[in-house]
Amino acid sequence: IDLRDGDTFDLVAEPATHAFLKDKPVAVIGYGGTYMGPALRLRRGTAPKVRLVNRLDRPTNVHWHGLLVEGRFDGGSHGGVAPGGDWTARLAVDQPAATLWYHAHVHGRTAEDVHDGLAGLLLVEDPNDAVARALPATWGVDDLPLVLQDRTFDPDGRPLYEKTTAVLEHGFHGATMIVNGIADAVARVPQRLVRLRLVNASGSRTFRLFLEDQRTFRLIATDAGLLGAPVDLTYMALAPGERAEILVDFAEGGTALMTGPDDHEHRSGARIMTVPDVLAAPARLVAFDAVADAAPHHTVPATLAALPALPRTTAGLKRRRFELRVEPGVDPHAAMVHAGMDHAAMISGAPVARSIAPLAPVAPRVTINGQVFDPGRIDEKVDFGAVEVWEIVSPEMAHPFHVHGAHFRVLGEDGGRPKAWNTGAKDTVLVENSAELLVTFASRADQAAPFVYHCHLLEHEDGGMMGTFTVA
Ligand code: C2O
Ligand code: CU
Ligand code: CU
Repeated sequence: IDLRDGDTFDLVAEPATHAFLKDKPVAVIGYGGTYMGPALRLRRGTAPKVRLVNRLDRPTNVHWHGLLVEGRFDGGSHGGVAPGGDWTARLAVDQPAATLWYHAHVHGRTAEDVHDGLAGLLLVEDPNDAVARALPATWGVDDLPLVLQDRTFDPDGRPLYEKTTAVLEHGFHGATMIVNGIADAVARVPQRLVRLRLVNASGSRTFRLFLEDQRTFRLIATDAGLLGAPVDLTYMALAPGERAEILVDFAEGGTALMTGPDDHEHRSGARIMTVPDVLAAPARLVAFDAVADAAPHHTVPATLAALPALPRTTAGLKRRRFELRVEPGVDPHAAMVHAGMDHAAMISGAPVARSIAPLAPVAPRVTINGQVFDPGRIDEKVDFGAVEVWEIVSPEMAHPFHVHGAHFRVLGEDGGRPKAWNTGAKDTVLVENSAELLVTFASRADQAAPFVYHCHLLEHEDGGMMGTFTVA
């Protein structure tokens, strides 16, 4: 749906029906009555309005992930629309073309809301960008959005979600991969160069992407827009909240987009928490059926965007440090297994070492700089127009760190250079151990509606791994 200057578009959050698995419709919630609401297309230089209408029985809101708008229109964790109410955001677009998305952002229930369907695509187009126009751009033909998620289904095709202690700690990992809301997705593509817009809209799974026949693909854009030049890859990671645009040449025929187990790349001895994935072997996300067509082949421009060179030194810049921590909780289920072992000892006649008290579940404590999110607290105050270095540290496990109202470049990761897929403009990055970000603050947010930064592993976000900041 194209949003034009002066338009007010109604985005209705309401119950819906959707079949994730073939012939198994189930109840979900969605914007505009569809799982994965309408794809909204915005043009640079325009300022349409979107009115969120709440037809759910509880408060909701909507956040434009990656869009640089003022804090009061950002739809972050502040406020929420009461049932029956509405809220209008003015989306003044002034940023490069990019693949963004929108999703519900009510603190404490973002994971469930996104799981249940409150998310959709948001595209920024720049009519004056000649390079962007040279790329494959026929929507649904050679320009395909692929929203990647994971779910676990019951036999009736209903997605199951439960906040166990383990889920609160590591995030939910589903056993079945879905793309644009369906399992076993198949896409028909022309036998030429095709642009795939990948969005990781899962709660916690980092997709470990490659093509089934190991063919090379070209990464052309990340979260906030085009890279300086295409990067040839055979593998990339896409963490929750991140986007990537890749070009795949189907002149070589069809293949499939695959994801490997989310092993969090246990490369560092510093990481102490490991996440066993329900996915033990690579799985297909979507199969591509390549068919001949007469349209001419696109050639990829050698230069895509004029990304400014990274500064040689950041010595003069303001620095802030954010430490993302997880203190494990107590899982009563695991505790029962423990009790069972003691019971076995009792039967065998061996002395019982200690009495067994029933254990209550204890939620893990997830924090940034030792603090749990408090919407009434302003954690950081940034000057409007500032460029700062944000150092993010993840001592226990990898966290996808996201900043509202700002874009950044990755200066370094884990003490070295950024990974190939983290060299462009971004708003979310998977921090394996540590990362240094060069953040530009070009949108304002006051105390009444501050921006937030948070872990985009949605259970961590809901658990309070989030902070607030103003830009003035
Ligand atoms: Cu994708 Cu705070 O959001
Ligand atoms: Cu966001
Ligand atoms: Cu996290």
